Amino acid sequence: MAMSAAAMTACGPGKPQLGVATIDEVADAMTLKEKAHLVVGTGMDVHAGTQTGESPAHTPIPGAAGATYAIPRLGIPGIVMADGPAGLRINPMREGDTATYYCTQFPVATALASTWNTDLVEQVGQAVGNEALEYGIDVLLAPAMNIQRNPLCGRNFEYYSEDPVVTGKMAAAYVRGVQGNGVCATLKHFAVNNQESNRMANDARVSQRALREIYLKGFEIALKEGKPWAVMTSYNKVNGTYASESVGLLTTLLRDEWKFKGTVMSGWFGGRNAVLQMEAGNDMLQPGTDGQYETILKAVKDKKLDEAKLDRNVRHVLEMLLRSPRLQKYKYTDSPDLNAHAAIARRSAEEGMVLLKNDSMALPLDSAVRKVALFGCASYALVPGGSGSGTVNSLHTVSLLEGLENAGYAVSDSLKALYLPYLAAGQSKGRLKTLAGSVPEYDTQRLPRELQPAMAMLEAEADSTDMALLTISRTSGESEDLDITDFFLRREETQLLDSVCKAFHAVGKKVVVVLNVGGVIETASWKDKPDAILCAWLPGQEGGNSLANVLAGKSVPSGKLPVSFPLHYEDVPSASNFPINAMQRSTPGGKKDWDYTNYEEDIYVGYRYYDSFGYEVSYPFGHGLSYTAFEYSEPTIVADGDKYTLAVKVKNAGHMPGKEVVQLYVSAPQAGRHNKPEKELKAFAKTDMLQPGQTAEVKMEVRAIDLASFNSQTSSWEVDGGGSHTFWFGASSDDIRDSLRYDVPPLQVKVGDVLKPQTMMRLLHR
Ligand code: GLC
Repeated sequence: MAMSAAAMTACGPGKPQLGVATIDEVADAMTLKEKAHLVVGTGMDVHAGTQTGESPAHTPIPGAAGATYAIPRLGIPGIVMADGPAGLRINPMREGDTATYYCTQFPVATALASTWNTDLVEQVGQAVGNEALEYGIDVLLAPAMNIQRNPLCGRNFEYYSEDPVVTGKMAAAYVRGVQGNGVCATLKHFAVNNQESNRMANDARVSQRALREIYLKGFEIALKEGKPWAVMTSYNKVNGTYASESVGLLTTLLRDEWKFKGTVMSGWFGGRNAVLQMEAGNDMLQPGTDGQYETILKAVKDKKLDEAKLDRNVRHVLEMLLRSPRLQKYKYTDSPDLNAHAAIARRSAEEGMVLLKNDSMALPLDSAVRKVALFGCASYALVPGGSGSGTVNSLHTVSLLEGLENAGYAVSDSLKALYLPYLAAGQSKGRLKTLAGSVPEYDTQRLPRELQPAMAMLEAEADSTDMALLTISRTSGESEDLDITDFFLRREETQLLDSVCKAFHAVGKKVVVVLNVGGVIETASWKDKPDAILCAWLPGQEGGNSLANVLAGKSVPSGKLPVSFPLHYEDVPSASNFPINAMQRSTPGGKKDWDYTNYEEDIYVGYRYYDSFGYEVSYPFGHGLSYTAFEYSEPTIVADGDKYTLAVKVKNAGHMPGKEVVQLYVSAPQAGRHNKPEKELKAFAKTDMLQPGQTAEVKMEVRAIDLASFNSQTSSWEVDGGGSHTFWFGASSDDIRDSLRYDVPPLQVKVGDVLKPQTMMRLLHR
């Protein structure tokens, strides 16, 4: 195994060594050049190190995204960073080495959020972090946690939810898991990076209230509850200033108000002005260029950059290095326990699957079902997901075909004979990336066209099999948003669905649709056709096995939607303020939704909007069916100072064991009159496995401050005293089972007046 440059260098006499001397002593011993080197990464080619000057950080981890500069004379190692979140992304092969390095592809963030199970998400974080540790990575560039503001954002799959509480709690759990390994986790992308079109320069224009309540709230929760050691700034501007150059965001808010003690790094090549970034408190620039190093050096010499600011940033970087496995000379093994991690991938995929519709208990599959007709390319080549724009080099991706066969089902041979050669042939046209075993894997951004078996064939299939399964897939990646046409089923998909339903329903056999998507798509126009719809998201490498378990009823679905599925695209509150069909160009004065995006829907994102403005949706936030049924009773609230404990009894009143997600929504007194959402999620909890007839008490905690709205006039969080708050216990945002009222005393907490919009906007108001 390779050792860091620092580890190989003997310490000189009288030179303070990192890890032995204090951070101050080490920082004081650094030359100006060393300081400038330390705050600038070693360049894109982390293997070689490209920075000017002496001793670049040599890293032995190809495929890693970035590294820091080693200063052996002070015992400062060069540490290595690599992407997540849905699995560690490094290169499969290493120089002079014949072994292949595999990592586990976990379900994507939307799927993890759908579990509403923070313990399970912590296990996923633990496993990804362990792979990082065992492959010699010090910093994992995850979790990603921007709000899913619009279904067309190309990176929604990497983000958790349209709701900040779900987002924050999931990210916190993931961070705890990763950092349990001693590997640094990185909250990204801070902040308001909700579109990929023109992501390096787009100005997100948002009210202070929407920032505080929606776009920053998840970060605030994750920082407090997860205590990450790093934050990555986003590419975009926030109200006119690049996030990485924003004093308000990085110093006033993050450091002074939220007391963040870790390291802030830029997004890769993010921001424009290295000096402004240093001043704002963007401690480290990644991946780092020679130009940035020269600029910082010159600015200090010319007294354009206060050296004290550079010193502050240097100390923050040293803190990160101090914690790194490299500094502790951790001997990584290159062999994480991939079997154990596959089991976690499988379990989390199962719990994240959301049963959207299940007419006359089409699922679980009847025990008489032995042979399945499998339609849709993705049934044979599931899209597992990826980290950023790249795929994780997993051992395999279990397709639905393989999952069903592993579970003992027969799959129609004539359909296999149709699809498998078609998909294999697609590979030569560049459509498919690799053939791992018999399973083709998609190029992340493109999907093959759907086949259209002739009606005679479909009729024969309907006769010779017991039911039909049809998978519909979408994939996307970093730096591009989805096209509006991706939101709808393509004509060929509708045609296939129609003809399969026609043939199978004609002989009284069921059709189940599996959604293999990273986020929200249109469902309203076609959801009446199949008997059941199971949303599997991008379920990771074990997807097919997880799906087979859920379809067969070995695993009872307990996932619920972390995003609303609207009836129409035009119903999406940001529909008129989001780039549709992304190839656009800047215009003088700025082009709407490209150079800038106005967040006119304000705080009314997702269900907050549909609920408050009376829009019917296709599937509401928090929705997810089970094979069993739950009854809620005896809601209670106990106040202890500013802390409220809410409890409710949940009984499994059905016939199968299952878990239930309880959602606690709160309505402020006279919400409508005070321009507040009809109700907002404030807490949630998932039961353990409940046997039929079993009852559990579910407890959730909220603090008075969690109930506050942000008043931009006074820059304060405020709880209104003018009446009772209503606490709703919901099985979804649209399925409230119980409630109680409580008089919460008024409260006002003043905070910094930061991130003011620079332009007038017409904000949505109730
Ligand atoms: C870009 C991406 C970020 C990733 C980094 C390193 O900045 O936005 O998510 O971690 O590159 O690959």
